[in-house]
Amino acid sequence: MAPYVPEEVDVFSVPHSRMKALVDEYSQMLRTTNFSNDVDHQLLLESLYRTFVEFKTHEQIENRFIMRRLKAKLKRLSIQDSAVCNCHKDNVLLDMLGFIKDGFQKKTEQDRINYGRRLKELLESFTHSFLPHMKEEEEVFQPLLLQHFSYEELCELKQNVINQHIMR
Ligand code: FEO
Repeated sequence: MAPYVPEEVDVFSVPHSRMKALVDEYSQMLRTTNFSNDVDHQLLLESLYRTFVEFKTHEQIENRFIMRRLKAKLKRLSIQDSAVCNCHKDNVLLDMLGFIKDGFQKKTEQDRINYGRRLKELLESFTHSFLPHMKEEEEVFQPLLLQHFSYEELCELKQNVINQHIMR
């Protein structure tokens, strides 16, 4: 269970609520999409494309406003930061965006059905790593932030993170 974190210094919960809502949304759409129907197929892909762009934006905001600052702080304190270094290092979001773009080119019914089968597998795999990833940020990185940043620094950091999510 995630530790209690005062709302004004909790940098992850608000954006993660939005990311989890998006996961619920595409999971629901996947259950009802009929890939043999071109309109269904296109609507799902358009929604998924917007969703993964938003995931990517979320990752960039975290990199810029949280992870870099946390790494710099840990470095100044000579604390090992390997967990933070490995966060967001893979290309999974860009790979998913590429696969979703490819889906727009599937013109025959059979191609769409085959594509839909693979898309489901990839999305299930993504979801199975993305949800624990967010949990790790809440349960491992947030306590590190609380440990090494002042209350004022954290309030500012949280506000920056929220503002960036609203602006983009
Ligand atoms: Fe909050 Fe790295 O996803």
